[in-house]
Amino acid sequence: MNPQVDKSENPQSSTICSAPRYQQDFPIEWEGDHYVSRREMVKFLTLGSLLLAVANWVTAFAKRWIRRDSSAVQLLGPATSLEANGSMLFRYPTADSPCIAIRTPQGALVAYSQVCTHLSCAVVYDKAGNRIECPCHRGAFDVENGTPIAGPPTRPLAKVAIEQRGDKIYATGMEV
Ligand code: FES
Repeated sequence: MNPQVDKSENPQSSTICSAPRYQQDFPIEWEGDHYVSRREMVKFLTLGSLLLAVANWVTAFAKRWIRRDSSAVQLLGPATSLEANGSMLFRYPTADSPCIAIRTPQGALVAYSQVCTHLSCAVVYDKAGNRIECPCHRGAFDVENGTPIAGPPTRPLAKVAIEQRGDKIYATGMEV
């Protein structure tokens, strides 16, 4: 027996019956599906901001942890390799971190990251001017403390702790 549906009683019944079986089983309201309420938008923005803040904190702590962990003592070479008013390049604390060691005309040992604090070009030692120069935009840094003295850089170079033990020179950590 096939029960007859009286279309005059329920005008929508013909529409429902003409829809495919899967749509009858899982009806989706497309208009409602695309609607994003203000509450949902605020929730999305709040959670997104929170996620970014957490990512920032994690990155900052990871950098500190790496820096602390990478303060191992590293032999740079014999003291004779760095004479007065001379410089030497090395990598510290990782193989991706270029640095420059300088023995000033007065005989003091200093070392800095070779990465310019403006736009990351490699700085070099200018013997004649006794200063550290960046060839990219003519930035310059004080040899004694790494502070910017000319050009666009506004932040000092990252300093590397360096010392002479006997006839050898060692890097002993990053100075924060
Ligand atoms: S990158 Fe060094 S001065 Fe611009």
